Amino acid sequence: MKIATVILAAGLGTRMKSATAKVLHRVAGRPMIEYPVALARALKSERIVCVLGHQAEAVQAAVDARFGAGTVSIALQKEQRGTGHAVAQAASSLRGFDGPVLILYGDVPLLGEAILRRLIDAARRHTLALCTTLLDDPKGYGRIVRDGHGHLARIVEEKDADEEQRRIPEINAGIYCVDAKFLFASLKKLRTDNAQGELYLTDVAARAAKAGQVATIEAEPEQVMGVNDRVDLARADRAMRLRVTEGLMRAGVTVRAPATCFIDAGVTVGADSEIGPLVELRGATRIGAGVRIDTGCVLTDVTVADGAHLKPYTVASESAIGPRAQVGPFAHLRPGSVLGAEVKIGNFVETKKARFGAGAKASHLSYLGDAEIGANANIGCGTITCNYDGHDKFRTVIGEGAFIGSDTQLVAPVTVGAGAIVGAGTTVVEDVPPGALALSRGKQIAVPGYADRKRAERVRQRAVPSSIPKKKGSQHNKP
Ligand code: UD1
Ligand code: MG
Repeated sequence: MKIATVILAAGLGTRMKSATAKVLHRVAGRPMIEYPVALARALKSERIVCVLGHQAEAVQAAVDARFGAGTVSIALQKEQRGTGHAVAQAASSLRGFDGPVLILYGDVPLLGEAILRRLIDAARRHTLALCTTLLDDPKGYGRIVRDGHGHLARIVEEKDADEEQRRIPEINAGIYCVDAKFLFASLKKLRTDNAQGELYLTDVAARAAKAGQVATIEAEPEQVMGVNDRVDLARADRAMRLRVTEGLMRAGVTVRAPATCFIDAGVTVGADSEIGPLVELRGATRIGAGVRIDTGCVLTDVTVADGAHLKPYTVASESAIGPRAQVGPFAHLRPGSVLGAEVKIGNFVETKKARFGAGAKASHLSYLGDAEIGANANIGCGTITCNYDGHDKFRTVIGEGAFIGSDTQLVAPVTVGAGAIVGAGTTVVEDVPPGALALSRGKQIAVPGYADRKRAERVRQRAVPSSIPKKKGSQHNKP
């Protein structure tokens, strides 16, 4: 069945106490607004309208960046005059649409697709269907008032409710599916004669109830939980991450300490991969099958191919790690690092905009930036690409199978040919031809007996009493 979706997100979010619009705060790494939009898309909504007010441009930019411009149309609600007024702003975007309109909130990220399918299904037989839930503490919500037959009679807001109504534990979750014609006709008739002087969307439900045309679907409290402050935000984040992590485990991923990992929604991990404690997988990170990610690794927008092993505390962003590569412990792959198959990057190695051919190795303590490193090249401990002259960046190219001795500085732009050897401690300032040896060292000398003479001199000096009296404070072994 064709549906349209309206997402309400114009509210100020005062309790967030934030300069950022509430729906741009992140749950499991994603701005909250993405969740209802993703649901609307999953349900094949013919049209999706976001009602925005507070920081509308920033919210629209986030939605467009994620789903592509034009996926969602924006209706501006300049003044927040209530939920009914908010939905009315979507009227022009939905002109000509007749069918059920799903109404969601931008700040309810944990809602699932299955319950919405049930809601849409109920709206086939009724003019209006809505989600309710039972809360131990229903304070602040609209209460579901039912008649003697158990049918919904109306929804009473906390501020309009009397003592008895406030004791009702069943609340309005604020999620509806309503026939478009009925919805927009009813919105025109709303009045502000209530405690808050607002146009209440809930009064549309009361109208449908008069005609015996309301169905209610009971939801789990967690699913319909709204985010109003940062405590709610942390709760929603935890619940969403737990879902993500459990989803991965069910798909064949071992997560050794699920409660300690932070895996963003949308991250993929292949079967038989193993994730250690305190791992963060962020953004568009994609992990292949049979990958091991040890304790404390933090990956942001990283692709890891099958069979790779990331040892503890590897930090990587915007990089690609090839099949069976080994990285870390304590390695830092900065944006643009691309590791071929079976590459080895060891401890305290930092890379940036650097490509490593298959089997290349940099096992210890190096900085490799703006570099192209050929297959099977060996980069010795303490190698540095001097890529920056204070103004511009330059490239270093190292050929296949080249051997770079320890403590080498490669002053870019420079090329070391395939199979060349650079002796330890060399400062490479000129290109090295393929197969050649490059060496830049002062000639080593040995001064016979020097060390022995020095030592003897020191012993003699200690034997002569010092002419300078010792300070009081410097005396040791006092009781
Ligand atoms: C509303 C319901 C209440 C329900 C509760 C569930 C009404 C009158 N009340 O409460 O029965 O229990 O949701 O959370 O509908 N918004 C706008 N423009 C506005 C006002 C709100 O876009 O002018 C958006 C907010 O950004 C938010 C959503 O609508 O996403 C709900 O707003 P909120 O103020 O939290 O709801 P209430 O009216 O308090
Ligand atoms: Mg609210």
